[in-house]
Amino acid sequence: MASVPSLAATVHQRVADALSAALPESAGADPLLRRSDRADFQANGMLALAKQLKGNPRELAAKVVAGLPADDLVGNVEVSGPGFLNITVTDGALLRTLAARAADERLGVPLAESPGTTVIDYSQPNVAKEMHVGHLRSTVIGDAIVRILEHRGEKVVRRHHIGDWGTQFGMLIQYLIEHPDELDGSPADAAGGDASGEAGEAAMSRLNRLYKASRALFDSDEDFKNRARDRVVQLQAGDEETYGLWRRIVDESKVYFQAVYDKLDVEIRDEDVVGESAYNDDLQQVVKDLEAAGVAVRSDGALCVFFDDVKGPDGNPTPLIVRKSNGGFGYAATDLAAIRNRVAGLHADTLLYVVDARQALHFRMVFETARRAGWLPEGAARQLAFGTVLGKDGKPFKTREGETVRLVDLLDEAVDRAAQVVREKARDLTEEEIADRAAQVGIGAVKYADLSTSMSRDYVFDLDRMVSLNGDTSVYLQYAYARIQSILRRAGDVGPVAQPELALAPAERALGLHLDEFGDTLAAVAESYEPHKLAAYLYQLASHFTTFYEHCPVLKAEDRATVENRLFLCRLTADTLHRGMALLGIRTPARL
Ligand code: ARG
Repeated sequence: MASVPSLAATVHQRVADALSAALPESAGADPLLRRSDRADFQANGMLALAKQLKGNPRELAAKVVAGLPADDLVGNVEVSGPGFLNITVTDGALLRTLAARAADERLGVPLAESPGTTVIDYSQPNVAKEMHVGHLRSTVIGDAIVRILEHRGEKVVRRHHIGDWGTQFGMLIQYLIEHPDELDGSPADAAGGDASGEAGEAAMSRLNRLYKASRALFDSDEDFKNRARDRVVQLQAGDEETYGLWRRIVDESKVYFQAVYDKLDVEIRDEDVVGESAYNDDLQQVVKDLEAAGVAVRSDGALCVFFDDVKGPDGNPTPLIVRKSNGGFGYAATDLAAIRNRVAGLHADTLLYVVDARQALHFRMVFETARRAGWLPEGAARQLAFGTVLGKDGKPFKTREGETVRLVDLLDEAVDRAAQVVREKARDLTEEEIADRAAQVGIGAVKYADLSTSMSRDYVFDLDRMVSLNGDTSVYLQYAYARIQSILRRAGDVGPVAQPELALAPAERALGLHLDEFGDTLAAVAESYEPHKLAAYLYQLASHFTTFYEHCPVLKAEDRATVENRLFLCRLTADTLHRGMALLGIRTPARL
């Protein structure tokens, strides 16, 4: 493992050194180097610096140029405009850097300098309920962030805070007690593939039936309602029969969740599913400590935390209720107990919550409460709030009947559409391969559409656009990858070898410079938790490759050295695409 500094980092250092040599007062100043279209890089730092030191920017820039003689890294430096530096690196330096990347299994991408522990709360569906597009976002974004942080060497603890507790269980369990056959026929032990899909569907349809039947009784029969309420008390008291039925409902739901995760091609491990119920035993203590510390106060029989800046429409403060007036605990108390557990028990340095933006106020109040109680260091917790998935009408995505869209239905439709696309292009694929690729393309399309939008924004769920071969889609990236693999296969016994003595064409340089930015991009993406910037990088990479491929024949290049060098660029592009897509949780089939 050898991390390779990017040319941007190396050139940055050289310019900074030349700057402090030219003007000792400027030592430590940032030359503000960035990629540029005019040259490879442009440094703008001389401008502000000269102004600040009451000098002439062009004169300062000229002195810096004098300190940057052409060598095997710097090809050319010029002063331009009011005092910018335009810097071009040599083709040899570019190819040598890329060769070092290619030789390293991490593609030269460094590990984080001081990794810590991050606990990430994501993919938190609710027991006995269907998963919907909101859970899609939380799952897909969370999965990508886990992969990206782990790739940087961060210790990541995953927490699926599933909704497995609450008064509705009284109703469900009471109904089960009175109708013991209701959940029968549950093979709660299916394994993988279609079997998992069928078992999941069957489990969910049983749960739906149970939910509807018990709800109907609850709403129509006062006596049942009372029995259901008593059942909640039994559940909280840990009554054995009640608890056993609760477990059964949770397990049945997990069969369903697993089927959705299999379809989504996301790995969720059982030990990471730590739902709301896991914190039951801590709630009394949490609330007691909050009251003793004066963080929570009694108000109208409830125990509440107040905030100066959180007010309802009537101007009265809206509190966070940590214990209801009937003595019950809700969502807030559980989240507070979870924070204590994650910081003190799991030793998290950072807590992330991949949750719908509509829960922003809840998290703001919960984080502030935990901070006041001394359980959470300032700034250690952050909600990665995502926007809403919209229908083509621009409103939150619903079925024509106005119901929430089932996630499984969407995924199935995406895979069907993808099958059409794959079939149209398929030349040498068997039916089985087409089905395989359709799953990878369809699920990839759904994930990519989500991940390529900045997460706080809403986006329209439009399958036509998602599986399009043109534009910023995963299919476009997957085809670029497959095309490169086909070139590499056809190369026969000519191998990919970098040839640093060759002069590069503009399209080769543009591709190469972009390849070199992979590590810097990943570092920025991990720092800001913005997977869409990785998606954008990969899309640009595929675009650079397309241009390169149009202008630079690979296998038919004029001489063997050029063929080898271009194959080298092809292979590094493929490896980078593959790695980047994998970090987003998207497959790159070798043939499409
Ligand atoms: N189960 C909730 C929902 O479906 C999301 C839970 C978010 N995580 C948390 N720690 N509150 O909306």
